[in-house]
Amino acid sequence: MPNKIKAPVKKIEKPIKVEEKIEEPEELKKKSSDPEQPVVPLPKGRKTPELLRGFRDILPDEQIYWEILREATKSMAETYSFDRIDFPILEKEELFIRTVGKQTDIVEKEIYGFEDKGGDKVVMRPEMTASAARAYINHGMLNLPQPVKFFYEGPNFRYDRPQAGRYRQFYQIGFEAFGSSEPIIDAQIIVMVYNLLKTIGLETNIRMNSIGTQDSRQAYKTELASYYRTKKNQICEDCKRRLLKNPMRLLDCKVEGCVAVKADAPQILDWLDEESKNHFMRILEFLDEAGVPYTLDPHLVRGLDYYNRTVFEIWTVNDEGERAQNAIGGGGRYDGLVELLGGREGTPGCGVALGMERIVLALKELKVQPTAKKVDVFFAQLGDSARRVGLKVFEDFRQSGISVREAFGKGSLKTQLELANKLGVLFTLILGQKEVLDGTIIVRDMESGAQEIVDASKIIQIMKKKLEIAKGLDTKR
Ligand code: HAM
Repeated sequence: MPNKIKAPVKKIEKPIKVEEKIEEPEELKKKSSDPEQPVVPLPKGRKTPELLRGFRDILPDEQIYWEILREATKSMAETYSFDRIDFPILEKEELFIRTVGKQTDIVEKEIYGFEDKGGDKVVMRPEMTASAARAYINHGMLNLPQPVKFFYEGPNFRYDRPQAGRYRQFYQIGFEAFGSSEPIIDAQIIVMVYNLLKTIGLETNIRMNSIGTQDSRQAYKTELASYYRTKKNQICEDCKRRLLKNPMRLLDCKVEGCVAVKADAPQILDWLDEESKNHFMRILEFLDEAGVPYTLDPHLVRGLDYYNRTVFEIWTVNDEGERAQNAIGGGGRYDGLVELLGGREGTPGCGVALGMERIVLALKELKVQPTAKKVDVFFAQLGDSARRVGLKVFEDFRQSGISVREAFGKGSLKTQLELANKLGVLFTLILGQKEVLDGTIIVRDMESGAQEIVDASKIIQIMKKKLEIAKGLDTKR
């Protein structure tokens, strides 16, 4: 499989070769500001617009992690034949009430919703599986060869309590497959995301469970409710309500006392129908075969109502700190979802969504160093006339396909050479007043520090030749 993602290796710091000892300029010294910290303090009495709680900017120096994740996703999706799909951010409220479920935290407490000017109750989507099912029905995709496989990426909104790795606007990458109930589909989705995360440097473990069919769950729900009735004085107020309305949701509660009570709760695996049990066993066999590490978690039910049979969560291994309470991703089978929304009876489905912020956080915590794209040439200029001519020369380079960077906004050669060093370029071109008059450009070999004056009109051909030779010698490029 062609893999476009570079393995996460340690970035090689090139020594600074500029003759003079260069003081790092202030703007380069500045670390990116933590988006959760207030920005620069303002003079007294002046107020600056602030971010909403739980919302964040994704700053340029973090983008490399997002790019790596997106590229790995795209490559995986191509390999496994998932086609890109995008959904609107606003959807009708009823879409999520009917699917995610009225008694879930997401719908009960976390919806960003409002009435629009036409009087429709709309919400900013809290997830995208319901949208995927809606799109599958709306566009008559049951007439396509099945399974129909989508992947998507985008922001979701949940009015949750913000903490590390938990935001009110967060991004997900998701994969959904409609139209097949075969356990190989569940397994394929799990193997795919496991490998996707592995490719970018994250070792994960999958927590697995099966919650059977709606019918087989009935008896379990009764058993679960009678267990919790005996513990009523130990559970939180929300759980007392859940006990009456939707006992499965008792197992989602994160309140300390409720987590303790859950430990001895009956396990759904003991109540599974034969078909669900076989389905689950087949998936586990596939995972064994593919070498994907998993743990059985008999109380895992996931906080959304549309699941049946398979449910799973993806956790990074060796988790420490606050983020350890958060799964990187989760998914499962939802064979009743399409029918629930008015689509063809019995249309099966299965999918997963990964939290992009949590992945980026994990990459940073594990100090996975993304390899920045290599730049070959830096274009440095000194003085107005050099800038003027430089713009054209720079554009010629860009069009020639040579990877080139500039810093036209910077005046001093020192700063520009330092930037060139930081980028690890092979050559820096220097254009000053004198060179403009002479029709020449200085070419500086960054490895040896040697400088050469060349004819400006032939600069592209000269640099192509030089780069060919230099890259032939440098095996890392
Ligand atoms: P979910 O477990 O609600 O499932 O979300 C999936 C992932 O999104 C989580 O594991 C987490 O990484 C990320 N996530 C969720 N909430 C937040 C938050 N507030 N801040 C940061 N990240 C968050 C679903 O959304 C299902 N639609 C998954 C699915 C797809 N099931 C089948 N297909």
